[in-house]
Amino acid sequence: MTATMNSRTAAGRGQPASAGQGSADVFVVFGITGDLARVMTFRSLYRLERRGLLQCPIVGVAVDDWTVDQLVERARVSIEGTGEVIDADVFGRFAARLSYVQGDFGDAATYGRVAEAIKGADSPVFYLEVPPFLFGTVVKGLAGAGLTATGRVVVEKPFGSDRASARALAEELHQFLDESQLYRIDHYLGKMGLEEILYLRFANTMLEPIWNRNYVECVQITMAEDFGVEDRGHFYDPVGALRDVVVNHLMQVVSAAAMEPPSGGDPQTIKDSQVALFRAVSEADPVHYVRGQYEGYRSINGVTADSTTETYAALRLDIDNWRWSGVPFFIRTGKKLPVTQTELRLVFKQPPRLGFNFGSDRRPEPNQIVIKLDPSTGVRLKVEALRADTAGPGAIDLDMEFADEGGEGPTPYEVLLQAAMVGKSTRFTRQDGVEETWRIMQPLLDAPPPVHSYTPGSWGPTAADELTADYVGWHRPWVPS
Ligand code: BG6
Repeated sequence: MTATMNSRTAAGRGQPASAGQGSADVFVVFGITGDLARVMTFRSLYRLERRGLLQCPIVGVAVDDWTVDQLVERARVSIEGTGEVIDADVFGRFAARLSYVQGDFGDAATYGRVAEAIKGADSPVFYLEVPPFLFGTVVKGLAGAGLTATGRVVVEKPFGSDRASARALAEELHQFLDESQLYRIDHYLGKMGLEEILYLRFANTMLEPIWNRNYVECVQITMAEDFGVEDRGHFYDPVGALRDVVVNHLMQVVSAAAMEPPSGGDPQTIKDSQVALFRAVSEADPVHYVRGQYEGYRSINGVTADSTTETYAALRLDIDNWRWSGVPFFIRTGKKLPVTQTELRLVFKQPPRLGFNFGSDRRPEPNQIVIKLDPSTGVRLKVEALRADTAGPGAIDLDMEFADEGGEGPTPYEVLLQAAMVGKSTRFTRQDGVEETWRIMQPLLDAPPPVHSYTPGSWGPTAADELTADYVGWHRPWVPS
């Protein structure tokens, strides 16, 4: 830390563009003794250290009365707990970066101690691993100690629980921070598969011209999880699938699949392109929305006995622009489904009857392009072909597993924490985009249809089949065979 800390209390719009926009010279984690740090943050930071990408001190802040040795021990146990094999040298370098500030987030003195701990920092990055109701308290505390004039604040999801609350939260934070300083996490923006969609679409001359309503019949996005809510009942029950993963993660997939190419690579231009797409998405219609809840969900700790929260959601979106008008985007997600797999699937229009006969009057099946995002990434092309090994024509799969093409990529949180440290805001959501996605989902929040029960291990309520009935139904996701 070289420069003297700027003591402005409220970083309004119009701060010098260069102030605090460089790489982080300190990374401050509020809530470092909590669960997210235990399962995600320590490991991600450690892996950044191993890759030589961690460049600054790390200050943990929490209410617990811990010593720095306890924090280091917690870091070690947490990293090992994720299955990572610790390299002593790497861990030694990582541990040497850690320090700890104890304090209550509602107490102004805490922020005084934080200011002391990061004295001289010019580009601090504050990572708020705290519940959203504390975002305002922490940011106000930081501002009161003169710590928000420069640098960035990273917040975890959820950002609001509907459009009005997202807007109110932004207004609260904007009293102290410029929008450009606010980095909202949606960990899907850290997934390599999401970038792959964009690259594949726009870097391939053979794909871009067909990626539209002239050729595509429908788009299907599936995020299936074979596990349940388990010990997250307190968090999940007031939230449900639509707010937990659709309005944020799956809308990021929609945008990567449907947006126009940005006219420049800077974060604002890319986000403008994304928001332009969201603006073209019509408000979702509750008539095309099916909610499900798996049997046994209500007996989970933290879930109310008569809960109607959905653990499964299936819906249809329509995009009213030149590229997509008339092409439904079907989205479904659920807990306790048969597999864990997230994918994007484009189903093309069916070819006409063939006038010539290859030993069968079978009509060719529609082509498909599948991009799987999680847990592994890959691309599948489903094409029609004549094969020497079978009697007649048929559909064949041309598969490419990215794991076979180049080793293990960084995990989303590594990508995001590093992006926050270097100030790469493309990886984070912008307020207008957040509000647009809430606008799209708002009718479903206002008038949710009744919830159907489904059997764990099934594909969710059969009522969801009606959504895609005119489009040959839901396609089972591509899973490793
Ligand atoms: C989280 C949700 O944001 O994303 C979880 O709260 C969900 O309910 C998880 O399981 C899925 O993320 P990923 O990266 O495993 O697809």
